[in-house]
Amino acid sequence: MANDSSAKQPIILSLGPFQGITDFIYRQVFQSQFEGIDKFYTPFFTAIHKADSKNLQGAEIDPKFNNIARLVPQILTNDHSELFHFSNYCAGLGYQEININLGCPYPRVAKKKRGSGLLPHADSLDEILDQYFAGNPLPTGIKCRLGYENPTEIAALAKVFNRYPLSELIIHARTGKQLYKGQVLLDEFAAIVTDLQINPGYNGDIFNTAEFADRAIRFPDVKHFMLGRGILSDPFLAADIREIPVNSDRKQQLYQFVKTLYEQRKAFSNNKPSAIGRMKELWSYLKYSFDEPQVIWRKIKKNNSFAEYEAAVDQIFENHQWIGQGFPSDEEAPDY
Ligand SMILES: Cc1cc2nc3c(=O)[nH]c(=O)nc-3n(C[C@H](O)[C@H](O)[C@H](O)COP(=O)(O)O)c2cc1C
Repeated sequence: MANDSSAKQPIILSLGPFQGITDFIYRQVFQSQFEGIDKFYTPFFTAIHKADSKNLQGAEIDPKFNNIARLVPQILTNDHSELFHFSNYCAGLGYQEININLGCPYPRVAKKKRGSGLLPHADSLDEILDQYFAGNPLPTGIKCRLGYENPTEIAALAKVFNRYPLSELIIHARTGKQLYKGQVLLDEFAAIVTDLQINPGYNGDIFNTAEFADRAIRFPDVKHFMLGRGILSDPFLAADIREIPVNSDRKQQLYQFVKTLYEQRKAFSNNKPSAIGRMKELWSYLKYSFDEPQVIWRKIKKNNSFAEYEAAVDQIFENHQWIGQGFPSDEEAPDY
């Protein structure tokens, strides 16, 4: 919904949640070394209603390990009482807002009518939100897609969203069926903006400053852009979008980032090899912003010991150039 004041509001740039990558350690180290991101989301919590659930007891949500003023905890559920329990729990810890995941595309989630699997069932969603909001929860936003099977599903969903006081609505401009592949559906996203009472946030394939500029021109009413794979691949992306000056030696700063992240993951896991696994996940994005992604990936993926991994990282920074903003937009991009 366009209105006169919206044009003057500054934009929000957020970091999308990535299960297995943007955990509390990543978020902490990122915030200490890079600028430009206003808002962070936890990867989704799930199965938190059971009395013996340990899922809410760790550092991932503990305010001691998080900058809670900027962090929105996210939940994946289709159960209004579990949602409400999550809201209460987060309120008790001092959080200001929570987010409902209606975007997760994976078939094992979707077939249980969770994540994007709930999107074809606007009536069920309406019932869940009706009971949930009746309890007066924390401000609550939704992250969704345009639909599961078909982007036309968003029309019925918009009517449901309009009935509730959502704190925000972020739309990844794909369907669940598309997973993370294929074109983003920019026309379908643009078409729904006027049907929504809330100005939606935009998410999908902003991998460089030119793609950000394109989305900002296409969607003049949108004031929140959520970055994803683009910023995993180049952590300077948000600062570059905002034209914030950064360290002139980007490669050196990136080295510090990767090193600190690794050391903290290693320490926190009590020297478990899972720390290397998590770093490999990040390298599967970072590699694209170096000069030779396939060479980098071959060097990283084979390491299973700390010593091998550390030597490979030192070699990469010694022998390769940091280019930046390299995540490939081409859906056919090879997965090295
Ligand atoms: C490995 C992986 C894990 C993800 N985990 C989550 C998650 O926990 N919650 C969520 O809302 N989105 C999750 N996403 C989706 C991203 O936050 C983001 O919406 C998606 O990558 C599209 O944005 P992009 O095109 O800018 O990358 C995940 C995506 C990937 C590839």
